[in-house]
Amino acid sequence: MSKGRFITLEGGEGSGKSTALSFIETWLTSHKIDYIATREPGGTELAEEIRALFLQEREEKVHELTELLLVFAARTQHINEKIKPAIEQGVWVLSDRFVDSSYVYQGAARSGDIKKIDILADWVLEGYLPDLTILLDVPVEIGLKRVEQRAKNDRLDRESVRFHETVRNAFLERASQHDHYKIVDASQPILGVNHDIEMCLQYLNNKH
Ligand SMILES: Nc1ncnc2c1ncn2[C@@H]1O[C@H](COP(=O)(O)OP(=O)(O)OP(=O)(O)O)[C@@H](O)[C@H]1O
Ligand SMILES: [Mg+2]
Repeated sequence: MSKGRFITLEGGEGSGKSTALSFIETWLTSHKIDYIATREPGGTELAEEIRALFLQEREEKVHELTELLLVFAARTQHINEKIKPAIEQGVWVLSDRFVDSSYVYQGAARSGDIKKIDILADWVLEGYLPDLTILLDVPVEIGLKRVEQRAKNDRLDRESVRFHETVRNAFLERASQHDHYKIVDASQPILGVNHDIEMCLQYLNNKH
């Protein structure tokens, strides 16, 4: 049996990850491909509890290393309990954010130590790296305007515009350095975004 493919969606707040995820779900269903959709931080009961801890507003300062370890603790659980079993059974995995978000948020944006992230990634991922990472790239003002309409903002949504610029640039830099990335211009109308995503999916589906 062939292994399932692993697709991750990355990008800043309001770049359209959730919108893209539901388009990909429709595409996979119409191609009769078995898949699971999941997200990070989270994806399992325990990992979702860690996510809630991580996003909660609190008086106590959250040390950068604590944040990094929490995210990787959730990821360890996610990989072992959900991602690995699916891929081994030939099921495709679709994740809203994955390890690249750690490099960008806990790394570049928080001036974290990239070497520590490399070590954790090497330790935790066990080779379960995405076959395709779709980076939804959108100017910060457009992304923030899209999420502004939403009622509930969390801790990360309220970071400064500069923080979001750093995030965008860090994603673009990672994309330029890694072959599994495809950059999609997410400032286009949704139909254009979907078209570009479909090209990526066809390519991945035909690749052996
Ligand atoms: N290409 C687009 N053009 C216009 N509006 C869009 C586009 N893509 C998504 N939107 C809208 O922007 C908002 C944010 O999109 P979405 O929730 O998919 O982003 P997200 O990346 O998942 O955000 P978050 O990081 O907060 O989870 C939604 O209201 C969605 O309908
Ligand atoms: Mg979303």
